[in-house]
Amino acid sequence: MTSLSTRRFIQLAALSAAGLLLAACGKKEAPPAPSAAPVAAAPAPAKVYVVGTDAAYAPFESQNEKGEIVGFDIDVLKAVAANAGIEVKFVNTPWEGIFNALGQGDRDMIVSAVTITDERKQTMDFSDPYFDAQQLIAIKENSKITKFADLKKLKVGVQTGTTGDEAVTKLLGKASTNIKRFESTPLALKELESGGVDAVVADNGVVIHYVANNPGGKFKTVSDKDFVPEQYGIALKKGNSELQAKLNKGLAGIKADGSYDKIYAQYFGAPPAAAAAAPSPAASK
Ligand code: ARG
Repeated sequence: MTSLSTRRFIQLAALSAAGLLLAACGKKEAPPAPSAAPVAAAPAPAKVYVVGTDAAYAPFESQNEKGEIVGFDIDVLKAVAANAGIEVKFVNTPWEGIFNALGQGDRDMIVSAVTITDERKQTMDFSDPYFDAQQLIAIKENSKITKFADLKKLKVGVQTGTTGDEAVTKLLGKASTNIKRFESTPLALKELESGGVDAVVADNGVVIHYVANNPGGKFKTVSDKDFVPEQYGIALKKGNSELQAKLNKGLAGIKADGSYDKIYAQYFGAPPAAAAAAPSPAASK
């Protein structure tokens, strides 16, 4: 047992002892505290950290039929929290404004497939990375597009303010009216299906998931090595190094004890370590 959870255990034990005492007093008024032993203030209830997530981003975060927020990010953070001995609660938060909510203290952290970027690092802090990602192009099956540069003169859908938006803005130019911005990635992909845009650029995991689950959309995907590698991190208010340390400790813990790999395999197949460890044809000769 870590010292943290030991302390928590003692806190809980003290709490339930207090509860027993109260129960013993029945419904009668609590007797005046004996002056010799002043009643210690009940320990403050454990802080529940509020986690913002834009739950329209399967398989990372989405809402199931019951309205519960589920997904890879959610399972990872739950495991991190358990490992770090903290409590978390998830609140669906639109992507636009998600970082404002963090800055204003309405959310303690953002777990939403957030790419760690230098620009974002100016205004927020991040946990250690927990997932590798890259942009991927979605197009219709009959499209002639074969690379990112082909999109230069075409209509491209993105989710506003994402790294996909950034990449496309760079290629098409800030003033381009061919960039169609949507409040969610699924909305951009629906627009692709209906022919309103020629392509969508978004995170590979989400595009692959969407294409696989919407065979009627007749999509295909195109990768391009021009897209820079990205990594997801948990975003925190700038300067919140206490929470950052807890999260990093939890992340390291679930990577070390195998629970990260289990969650990864559940959503994406073979765990990343196993994939990396598998001998490549070149290495085995
Ligand atoms: N990884 C991209 C970014 O950080 C997109 C994340 C969007 N996440 C979401 N849940 N909508 O810009």
